[in-house]
Amino acid sequence: MNEKVEVPVIKNARPYDVAPTARYAEFMRTGWAPSDLEGLHPLDVVTYAFTRRQVLSDAYPNIRLVIPSGNYKTRSNDTEYLYRPHSAFAFYSGVQGSDAVPDSVLVMEPKAEGGHDAYLYLHPRSTRETHAFYTDRKYGELWVGRHFTLEEAATVYQIETRNVDDIENLLRFSKETLLIRGEDTLMDKLISVHAREAEFQTFASEQRLIKDEYEVGQLQAAVDATGRGFSDVIAALPAAADHPRGERIVEGAFYGRARLEGNDVGYTTIAAAGSHACVLHWIRNDGAVRNGELLLLDAGVEMDSFYTADITRTLPINGKFTPAQRALYMLVYEAQLAGFAAVKPGVPFLDVNRAAQRVLAQGLADMGVLTVSAEESMQPDVGLHRRWTLHGVSHHLGLDVHDCDKAREENFRGGVLREGMVITVEPGLYIQPDDELFAPEYRGIGIRIEDDVIVTADGCRNLSEDIPRHPDAIEAWIASILG
Ligand code: GLY
Ligand code: MN
Ligand code: MN
Repeated sequence: MNEKVEVPVIKNARPYDVAPTARYAEFMRTGWAPSDLEGLHPLDVVTYAFTRRQVLSDAYPNIRLVIPSGNYKTRSNDTEYLYRPHSAFAFYSGVQGSDAVPDSVLVMEPKAEGGHDAYLYLHPRSTRETHAFYTDRKYGELWVGRHFTLEEAATVYQIETRNVDDIENLLRFSKETLLIRGEDTLMDKLISVHAREAEFQTFASEQRLIKDEYEVGQLQAAVDATGRGFSDVIAALPAAADHPRGERIVEGAFYGRARLEGNDVGYTTIAAAGSHACVLHWIRNDGAVRNGELLLLDAGVEMDSFYTADITRTLPINGKFTPAQRALYMLVYEAQLAGFAAVKPGVPFLDVNRAAQRVLAQGLADMGVLTVSAEESMQPDVGLHRRWTLHGVSHHLGLDVHDCDKAREENFRGGVLREGMVITVEPGLYIQPDDELFAPEYRGIGIRIEDDVIVTADGCRNLSEDIPRHPDAIEAWIASILG
């Protein structure tokens, strides 16, 4: 007790932070009961993450691989966005939810006898023997909550853990190293650029094209939670319809579910009422939700595993579609059925888009607004129907909402579907409010239906089948919640 306590240096101090006095520092070292975590056990993801690292190890013999989780991202001045690790780090480490610690780094260190050792470098718990627990506003326990100790983290992730403050001791032994660059400023500085870095990113992205059993389970859980979030939004529709910024009520209702059941939303919610639905990425969400109009809600819960759903439903705000709304809706619905039917192994990825677009183009021709035949419009150098369809209908889904996008074109949008891929099928029709080619009752209507499907041996399985889609089912869903 009487040993001399140095005045601690505050890590991550702001100019106006007051340093502890020596007496305060000494006082803070004493009187704490032990507070080890009891009952920790390895996470379900551990065996999958081990296999994923093994694939990486086999592909890059004798090369050190560095996969950072990423630093905090500043929101304003000294406040940060909710921390979310980089997806490659999440994939290979298995780190979950709010247990993710900024600046963590997964290192695959080559062994002389072949293969790699995995080391998870992180900021461990700032225990009571440190001063950081009460002085460090970025990592201190009394500021941001308790992290795992190195031992606890090793137990849950089943990876050898080390303090990230020691990572330079490893990197000092220089050897050929590949880094996922752009996530961690210190790693970017310490590790020189390697000609194969882009290829490494590509490999890591392509490894996620086919989902393992754990990933499929997590995507299903994300979809199921998202369905409950959509029901929460329906329950909030009467409140939203009474408010000039009702879209914010919609956004907030969904966000509540995402934070309750998951880590966050997987992307910013699109809560687009009325003609806002014709703006593809309407994330301002500051408009009114009016009786008689449609609400296009594009939202996904991201689970603690960081897998996200990506679902869109277009809902009549008063519970009933008008004939014009229903007519357009049914066209999108039929297009989506054609998209689902196109999904099977061996089929070009872009065939799903073509199948859905063909139905939309035919419908637009039948309505007399498309001045060329559907067949002509479908020619790559024509595409007039795209005035109303605007976007493609599929992308990969997983840890990132637009997943695997560092994959080579021939394995991605230019490739074929393979069993175990998870993609969206999301056709839409958007009639801008000033589009004179359509009769007035159709103007300002935007419709998208988006589901998440897994490619099976002979077709696909819709993970979001239980979220009502047909207009009759949607009306019944709304009635069941609002009476
Ligand atoms: N929510 C973005 C998308 O559907 O791709
Ligand atoms: Mn999507
Ligand atoms: Mn979406």
